[in-house]
Amino acid sequence: MKLLVTGGAGFIGSNFIRYMLSVHDDVEIVNVDTLTYAGNLENLIEVERDPSYTFVRGDITSEENVEGIFRQFSFDAVVNFAAESHVDRSIHMGVEAFVRTNILGVQYLLDASRAHGVGRFLQVSTDEVYGSLGDRGKFTEDSPIQPNNPYAASKAAADFMVRAARKTHGLDAVITRCSNNFGPFQFPEKLIPLMIANAREDKALPVYGDGCHVRDWIYVRDHCSAIDRVLRDAPTGSIYNIGGEHDVQNIEIVKTILKMLDKPESLIRFVEDRPGHDRRYAMDCSRLRSDLGWQPEHDFETAIAATVDWYVRHEAWLSNIRDGSYTGYYDDMYAKRLAEAEED
Ligand code: NAD
Ligand code: TYD
Repeated sequence: MKLLVTGGAGFIGSNFIRYMLSVHDDVEIVNVDTLTYAGNLENLIEVERDPSYTFVRGDITSEENVEGIFRQFSFDAVVNFAAESHVDRSIHMGVEAFVRTNILGVQYLLDASRAHGVGRFLQVSTDEVYGSLGDRGKFTEDSPIQPNNPYAASKAAADFMVRAARKTHGLDAVITRCSNNFGPFQFPEKLIPLMIANAREDKALPVYGDGCHVRDWIYVRDHCSAIDRVLRDAPTGSIYNIGGEHDVQNIEIVKTILKMLDKPESLIRFVEDRPGHDRRYAMDCSRLRSDLGWQPEHDFETAIAATVDWYVRHEAWLSNIRDGSYTGYYDDMYAKRLAEAEED
């Protein structure tokens, strides 16, 4: 199978490429990534010499780039990871890049897939399209689409473009909606790697609001195996929730990390809440389990310990990123929030 993976230099995409090349010998992968602040070829050093792997620097928001890539290769399937992926950035840094990549870029990929007769298009989506849960219940694939932040809204719009490409033009397309991932190579703007990195440096750990927001955490390799299963076996037009079915409050995650690193809870700072902060996510993955026989293989406790250990052992990877130019924005934002928290 010749596979186009977009956004493969990011966190989940790079884990997916490694996963696919390690478990299948009939897969060839072309990774197209424009290398934004979140794209990092260091994530792929392990596979860069693999004859079944090719990297092409390309931007999915350029119709010309996309068309050129589809003309050059003949793909059996497309898995689209490419996205602007951070909620805080969509709130604080403007939404243009989110709309361009997460919606327009997806449309260009859908158009090219149709024009070039690609066998299957898999859109990697998120549980955030469902909005927030109250105290009880879980998201199913039939839950209403009610995104609450610009990132989630852009991903929801893409889901609808994928649906339209199938209904209107008959493209074989499927959608996966996954919960919060953690594991190696995650950019340290997201909760788990940020808390590990800050704790290691004895810096304050900013917890938004009261810290009681709940997320469903899945180890990234389990997300990868679920995508593989959906890509190969799901009926056309289907949508599958993917989750670790491990729902935890943010504050518990932060305390777990501190404990593993033997750091004091006094590093925790409760800071101003994220605007529009969804209170609770929880995933019902029974459709994926019963239709396709998928189940996660990693329990949370073992996987979080392995993840903390990975960041400790890959200090250079982390510091290369943390020394990069992006940190200005985060340092400014957190400095402001932390200063406000100290004043209260
Ligand atoms: P990430 O930010 O780590 O990686 C995104 C990648 O996309 C980067 O390599 C970046 O360079 C690339 N990219 C961005 N714009 C591009 C463009 N215009 N053209 C080509 N490449 C471009 O993101 P991630 O956490 O790995 O998420 C991957 C996908 O999974 C996203 O679609 C995201 O919405 C979805 N998702 C993520 C999570 C999570 O917990 N991280 C959960 C559910 C779904
Ligand atoms: P994040 O990793 O940004 O993922 P998402 O917003 O896609 O769920 O955040 C996970 C949770 O952690 C979310 O409820 C926001 C919270 N959070 C903090 O409390 N402090 C932080 O510094 C960050 C980055 C997130």
